[in-house]
Amino acid sequence: MSNVLITGANRGIGLELAKQYAARGDHVFATCRNPGAADALNELAGENLTVLELVPTNAASVAAVVDSMAGTGVDTLINNAGTPGPAPDQQSALSMDYDGWLETFNVNTLAPLRVLQGLHPLLKQSDNAKAITITSQMGALDLNWPTMYAYCSSKAAVNKVMRMISVELANDNIAVGLIHPGWVQTDMGGEQADISPAESASGIISVVDNINLDNTGCFMKWNGEPHNW
Ligand SMILES: NC(=O)c1ccc[n+]([C@@H]2O[C@H](COP(=O)([O-])OP(=O)(O)OC[C@H]3O[C@@H](n4cnc5c(N)ncnc54)[C@H](OP(=O)(O)O)[C@@H]3O)[C@@H](O)[C@H]2O)c1
Repeated sequence: MSNVLITGANRGIGLELAKQYAARGDHVFATCRNPGAADALNELAGENLTVLELVPTNAASVAAVVDSMAGTGVDTLINNAGTPGPAPDQQSALSMDYDGWLETFNVNTLAPLRVLQGLHPLLKQSDNAKAITITSQMGALDLNWPTMYAYCSSKAAVNKVMRMISVELANDNIAVGLIHPGWVQTDMGGEQADISPAESASGIISVVDNINLDNTGCFMKWNGEPHNW
C-alpha cells in the first residue's frame, strides 16, 4: 500500500488516476482547487481516498496541505493539474496573449515544482518515493508542430526542470519521472481524442510502478514506451 497524492484529481485523467489507485488498495490524497464542486471525486471518498483542497499555484495552499497531513509520508506525487492556456489563436507565432502565457507557465511549470518542494519532507519519509509530472508530447523539442506556443513551451520547460531535479533528488532516494498521457478524451483533449481516461490512467499507473532510481529523469509515454525529448 502506497500513499499517492494527485493534483487536479476532480476531473479528467486525475480523477481516473485517483479512482484506479484507490481501487487497487493504495491510499489516495486526491487534491483539487474546489472540493465543494468536485462531485465525482467526493463520491470516491472513503477508507482509501481523502479529498483535500490544494491550489498548486499558491504556496500557502501547498503549505496548508502539508500541515494537514501531519507528517504522513507520501510515496508517490503525481503533478497532474494542467491548463491548455489561452485560446489557440491567442498563443501563436504572431498573436500572443502574454498574460495568458505567464499563467500557463504558472500552472504547468512553476506549480509542479512548488508542490514537489512542499512535499519534499513527506517524500523523504518513503523508501520508494516518486515524483511524477504529467507532461505532454507537445513539450518535446523534436515535435515539429508549431501550435499552442504557451502550452508547448510550458511543458518543455517543466520537462527540463524535472530532468534537472531528478539528478539532485537521487541524493534523497526520490525518483523523478515525466509521462505523456496520450491524447485523452477529457475536457482538454476533446471527445475525438484517441483513448479514454481509464486507458490512460491504467497505463500511467503501470509506468509509475516501473520508475525508480535506475531510470530517474525518464520521459515516458503512457503505454510504457520511452518518449523522445
Ligand atoms: N487530455 C490530453 O489529451 C492530454 C494530452 C497531453 C497531456 N495532458 C496533460 O494531462 C494533465 C491532465 O489533463 P486532463 O486532460 O485531465 O485535463 P482536464 O480534464 O482539463 O483537467 C485539468 C485539471 O487541471 C486543473 N487545472 C486547470 N487549470 C488549473 C489552474 N489554473 N490551476 C490549478 N489547476 C488547474 C483542473 O482543475 P479545475 O477543475 O479546478 O479547473 C483539472 O483538475 C494535464 O497536465 C495536461 O496538460 C493531457
